[in-house]
Amino acid sequence: MAEMRHIPVMLDEAVEGLAVKAGGRYLDGTFGRGGHARAVLSRLGPGGRLLLMDRDPQAIAEARRAFVDEPRVAIRHANFGSLAEWDETAAGLDGVLLDLGVSSPQLDEAARGFSFMADAPLDMRMDTSQGESAADFLAQASEREIADVLWQFGEERFSRKIARAIVERRSESPLTCTGELAALIDRVVGRREPGKHPATRSFQALRIRVNGELDAVRHGLDDALSRLKPGGRLAVISFHSLEDRIVKQFIRDHAGRVQGSRRGPPAAAKPAELVAVGKAQFPSDAELAANPRARSAVLRVAEKLPLAERA
Ligand SMILES: C[S@@+](CC[C@H](N)C(=O)[O-])C[C@H]1O[C@@H](n2cnc3c(N)ncnc32)[C@H](O)[C@@H]1O
Repeated sequence: MAEMRHIPVMLDEAVEGLAVKAGGRYLDGTFGRGGHARAVLSRLGPGGRLLLMDRDPQAIAEARRAFVDEPRVAIRHANFGSLAEWDETAAGLDGVLLDLGVSSPQLDEAARGFSFMADAPLDMRMDTSQGESAADFLAQASEREIADVLWQFGEERFSRKIARAIVERRSESPLTCTGELAALIDRVVGRREPGKHPATRSFQALRIRVNGELDAVRHGLDDALSRLKPGGRLAVISFHSLEDRIVKQFIRDHAGRVQGSRRGPPAAAKPAELVAVGKAQFPSDAELAANPRARSAVLRVAEKLPLAERA
């Protein structure tokens, strides 16, 4: 099989945002196929260190192959939501990069079950070594739970109708393939948004649920902040509004605003720990023309404040 490629999204902007120092220690929590990681590594000197994580065993196999002779690189197969558990992070980090979502190889390899474009087992796990697949979830969840997932993580207007159809269908035989699910949703929804398959929202929602993606982002941000050194940078690329909202809110929550409601007595101001570096950034027109998968990307960068500057 030809090696599948992933075109890194907002590469220059993200690496610029990390303000890489030659002797620094950086963590890329979403190695994928290493586009961002290689760019960071190219800026590190002999004393620098690059920590790589991915929850996908195939991505980790690729990292191990690519950096077998690279003493500055350490690699760990894990969810970035537990990055602080890695002893390599205990010395503190000068930067953390999270390029969220799925990689092109994950989407393009039909057998991973992320895509409705080809018929394959309904899996959708990024970490194929553990956890429940999308087929397992759809076999066991209640109608209500399925509807909630489709609504909350996919903003699918037909969430209840689709959930009902799934539950009716599974009483006859289990739903095990992407093609069957896509066809069922197509029938239930019965209409198309321009340029969008009717199953797009449901597939996104199931993927987020199966991989616990939003919880991973929340834990990953907390862990990143705890491990960043003063002056260290956090750069996060999100691909949908649910993720971006969490990142935006996280930066805001740690920017030292006064807590408390307008009516109640003002609570003590929380000391600022982070400061946003610039505004949200989006891919350039040139990048969008070259790589349509960059379409919904948003990059946010923040810097951890030195103690003395915390208001
Ligand atoms: C958009 S791709 C990253 C692409 C990468 N920056 C590159 O240039 O090749 C996202 C990757 O992050 C991984 N991933 C997503 N969520 C993760 C998590 N919570 N922990 C670890 N890896 C995760 C996916 O398995 C996938 O390989």
